[in-house]
Amino acid sequence: MSEHGAPRILVFDSGIGGLSVAVCVHEKLPHAAIVYLADNAAFPYGGQPESVVIERCCTLIASALEQYPCDAIVIACNTASTIVLPHLRAMTEVPVVGVVPAVKPAAAQTLNHRIGLLATPATVRRPYLDELVREFAADCQVERVGHPGLVQWAEDLARGVPVPQGELDNAVARLRDAGVDTVVLGCTHYPLLLESLKQSLPEVKFWVDSGDAIARRVVWLLAQAGKPVEALEYGGTVVAALFSGNAPEGVARYMADLGLQPKRVTGHWPSKS
Ligand code: DGL
Repeated sequence: MSEHGAPRILVFDSGIGGLSVAVCVHEKLPHAAIVYLADNAAFPYGGQPESVVIERCCTLIASALEQYPCDAIVIACNTASTIVLPHLRAMTEVPVVGVVPAVKPAAAQTLNHRIGLLATPATVRRPYLDELVREFAADCQVERVGHPGLVQWAEDLARGVPVPQGELDNAVARLRDAGVDTVVLGCTHYPLLLESLKQSLPEVKFWVDSGDAIARRVVWLLAQAGKPVEALEYGGTVVAALFSGNAPEGVARYMADLGLQPKRVTGHWPSKS
């Protein structure tokens, strides 16, 4: 808990993508204190062996919990969520929420039963995605695109570098050709690219991500634990934005634009805290 008794929530990602989830958590719990933790020294997680991702997530999160005791942990990274959740749950009693691509809500929304699934190459390869599609979208044509560029373009955008629109158009061309009316944003970086994605695929009707569902789950878990989930009189904030590598240039301004003005930003954490 924070010093005001408001809940404190740790939001974790390999980079700035988890900010798209932090925005949803902040909307639902405006009084909560958020600690944002990014393992950007190892970004992108999709290029790392699973054992490295597990080890790094567990070590960094354990350090963060020591410095900032939290009431909930959100693994706002699809790539990490598929492999680290059992390890984290064995390590801490703090409730852990992971993220999965929103295939189920997409299947409920599509009108033409053609869904695009946009994710990192690592997420697209994972067998749990086959299971999600089999379970929830068996009656749909699901076109998967696992492109390595999009996460980096989102990271660059936070530094003020415009999205290379032509390259993005090419990256999602298969979704245009397949005539999908719904696209699942299966990586937490992608909602940050939404304006550019809409330009690339203007005919898409529904863009579906997991941010709201995660935020609702966090509210539910906090309520179960008897923590205050109604907004208190003081506004919550991002009490710390911690980066294991260099703090991305301009990240405080970018976060402020998202409504997540951080109180402090620390790079090379935890060695420099
Ligand atoms: N935001 C992460 C995700 O949702 C980025 C992936 C990565 O680091 O490879 O999967």
